[in-house]
Amino acid sequence: MILDLKRLPILETERLRLEPLVAADATHLYPIMGDPEVMAYWDVPEIDDPDVVAEVVQGQVEGMADGRAVYWAMRTLGDQAFVGSCDLSEIDRRHRRAEVGFMLGREAWGQGYALEAVRTVIAFAAGGGLRKLTARTHLGNRRSEVLLAKLGFTEEGLLRGHVFKDGERRDCRVFGLLL
Ligand SMILES: CC(C)(COP(=O)(O)OP(=O)(O)OC[C@H]1O[C@@H](n2cnc3c(N)ncnc32)[C@H](O)[C@@H]1OP(=O)(O)O)[C@@H](O)C(=O)NCCC(=O)NCCS
Repeated sequence: MILDLKRLPILETERLRLEPLVAADATHLYPIMGDPEVMAYWDVPEIDDPDVVAEVVQGQVEGMADGRAVYWAMRTLGDQAFVGSCDLSEIDRRHRRAEVGFMLGREAWGQGYALEAVRTVIAFAAGGGLRKLTARTHLGNRRSEVLLAKLGFTEEGLLRGHVFKDGERRDCRVFGLLL
C-alpha cells in the first residue's frame, strides 16, 4: 500500500526527532501560531485563542487517523525542546502525491532545522511510494522559497488570488518535486 499509515512514523534526523502530533502538543503550538511573524504568510492570521489551536491540532490528529495526512511535532534530540511542526497533507494515493508543510517557532529560525526535517520527510514520502510533492507559498515568503529551492523543488505556477486574508486576495506560488 502507498504510504501505509497504520503505524504512524517517528523520524529522526541528526538533531531532531519528529513524532506524530498529539493533542497535548497544542500547548507548544499555541505561542507559535499566535506569533504574527510566523503566521504572516499562513492562510489564516495569528491565533490568539488556545482553544482554537487545540481544535486545529484535534483536526490534524483526526486527519492522521483517517490516513489523509501526517503531522509531526519537531523536537531537538538533546533537550527535547519543541521547535515546530511539519507535515504531509492532501495525500493522494492514486496519484502518489502529497503536499508538504512546515512551521518553526521564530527562535528556531536560521539553524537549518526545517531543511533537516523536511529532507527526512521527503525521504519518508519517497520510501512510502509517493512520487510527487507539492508546496504552496504566499508571495513574499522568501524563507520558504529559499528552503524549497535547497530541497530541490522548482516553481510550477502561480495561483492568482488563491487566499483571502486581511480583506484582500493573495497570490500563491506552487512548487513541485518529483521523487
Ligand atoms: C519557512 C521556515 C520554516 C524556514 O525556516 P528557516 O530557519 O529559515 O529554514 P532552514 O531550516 O532552511 O534554515 C535556513 C537558515 O539556517 C541557517 N543554518 C544554520 N545552521 C544550518 C545548518 N546546519 N544547515 C542548514 N542551514 C543552517 C542557514 O544559513 C539559513 O540562515 P539564514 O536564513 O539566516 O540564511 C520558517 O521561516 C517559518 O516557520 N516560517 C513561518 C511559517 C511558514 O511560512 N511556513 C511555510 C508556509 S508555506
